[in-house]
Amino acid sequence: MRRLARDGAGRCTVWMTVGALAACAPDASGPGAGTAGSSAGGDWTAPLAADAPERFGFGSDASEERVALWDIDVKPDGEGLPPGSGSVAAGREIYELACMQCHGATGTEGPNDRFVAAGDWDPWPPGRVFGAYWPYATTFFDYTRRAMPQATPGSLSDDDVYAITAYVLHLNGMLPEDAVLDSASLVAIEMPGRDRFVPDNRTGGPEIR
Ligand code: HEC
Repeated sequence: MRRLARDGAGRCTVWMTVGALAACAPDASGPGAGTAGSSAGGDWTAPLAADAPERFGFGSDASEERVALWDIDVKPDGEGLPPGSGSVAAGREIYELACMQCHGATGTEGPNDRFVAAGDWDPWPPGRVFGAYWPYATTFFDYTRRAMPQATPGSLSDDDVYAITAYVLHLNGMLPEDAVLDSASLVAIEMPGRDRFVPDNRTGGPEIR
């Protein structure tokens, strides 16, 4: 993330998240600002000059292989789940190395989001945590594979993610200690919150369709 800002003299500065501070030139409000071809700080929405080249030669076509590296989302029904498997026992080891410091030894302590909630819906869920609230277990796999561990997303193998998912389901009492999870058994898990979500089909007023 990067922010551009003007100081009182109209100069432009760029803050990087790492804290580096750099002055940028030329003065964005000075002569030439807003015209095509002006450099950093100009009006980036201005149309290109008539003599601008059609292409600038940056980048390259997105190959199928490159798209495939990003196209890893898993749908609630399991579409997109990769091959592989992982056991509760293996998941415990990886969880303690890669997740526990933020999500707690038993998934209840935090400091970040909790995965395990004690109690049943009565009539509301005992917290909006994975085990009690999320309608699909596949979402845990999907989110973890794409976004966790927070500092190094993408560092876990598919087998690791199956194993961690198995372990967290075990912490929630939904898989036995000796279970091994793969795509078929993950899709078959019925989360307690599964039927608690209904389509919002209100018509816009107090009445319901
Ligand atoms: C450095 C701290 C850190 C580590 C390590 C970490 N997480 Fe997270 N995790 C977070 C934070 C912070 C959030 C909340 C992110 C947000 O809301 O945008 C989060 C959110 C999540 C969520 C969504 C929870 C919810 O209820 O919305 C899941 C699932 C998750 N993490 C799984 C994992 C797993 C599995 C690991 C280990 C492989 C892991 N995380 C490691 C910090 C961490």
